[in-house]
Amino acid sequence: MSQRDIRIALFGAGNVGRHLLEALRQAPNVNIVGLWNRHPGKWKAVAGDIPVVDTPEQMPAADIFILALKDDVLTDFSAHLKGRNVLTVHTSGAMASNILQTERKGVFYPLQTLTSGSAVEWESIPLLVWAPDAHDLQLLQDLAGRISKNVHVIDDRQRAQLHVAAVFTANFTNAMMQMAKEITGKAHIPYELLIPLARRNFYNILSHDPAEVLTGPARRGDNKTIEKHLLLLQENGFADEAEIYRRITEWIVKRYNKPGK
Ligand SMILES: NC(=O)c1ccc[n+]([C@@H]2O[C@H](COP(=O)([O-])OP(=O)(O)OC[C@H]3O[C@@H](n4cnc5c(N)ncnc54)[C@H](OP(=O)(O)O)[C@@H]3O)[C@@H](O)[C@H]2O)c1
Repeated sequence: MSQRDIRIALFGAGNVGRHLLEALRQAPNVNIVGLWNRHPGKWKAVAGDIPVVDTPEQMPAADIFILALKDDVLTDFSAHLKGRNVLTVHTSGAMASNILQTERKGVFYPLQTLTSGSAVEWESIPLLVWAPDAHDLQLLQDLAGRISKNVHVIDDRQRAQLHVAAVFTANFTNAMMQMAKEITGKAHIPYELLIPLARRNFYNILSHDPAEVLTGPARRGDNKTIEKHLLLLQENGFADEAEIYRRITEWIVKRYNKPGK
């Protein structure tokens, strides 16, 4: 049986919007009917023959409106699309579907860090879809399946929790590496010395249960080394980093070094 066409309109030319445009262009039987962005010039270079509209109200009819917009503006922005009877979805991991003011609503969340200029392998990216209406959910699954082989139905509550876990996985590990970079920078040591360690660590974490491959002074309970590290951080002006070190060390000790273990 031949696939029916799905008509999509995309709002937002940020990191997600621009990557999604490419994914949608390559997806079979997906017709991109229009693009909108607050600053429409951002679309002009990449839109090709897809119309760029000046106001959300001018967007042509579609099966799905995708709002790849900043979390904080989604509710107010969706008011522009009320009364259109189009399934309207946002791409946020943290926001519930019901923050949208449209009659039909849902979520189309790519669980990946998307930045401009970096290649995206859509086929393997988890696409988490949700809509309270069963037909709308089916439509989102259909669209997602044309982009990725890794499609999951995850409701608002579960997605919010997954998003917290994603922050630990991606954003906090990034911040940790930035702290490591600043600590080595201040000591005039090449940050690159840490890269083989980072690679091996991620490889270990991803190929085992993280608990099985944790090493280091906190895991061993080497208190003299911990005190020395805290002193070094304080002496070198890393008071915030010392506090983070202390809190994570406490977490590790509490989690693994229980009395009698
Ligand atoms: N980046 C990621 O890794 C990632 C991954 C998964 C999900 N998400 C979610 O995807 C959504 C978009 O994220 P992003 O990373 O693409 O953000 P982004 O690159 O910062 O782009 C934000 C978009 O929101 C628009 N915007 C900002 N303020 C606005 C306003 N007051 N009125 C109308 N439009 C406004 C921007 O328009 P201008 O271009 O005119 O400023 C831009 O199109 C968010 O819900 C985010 O949680 C992001």
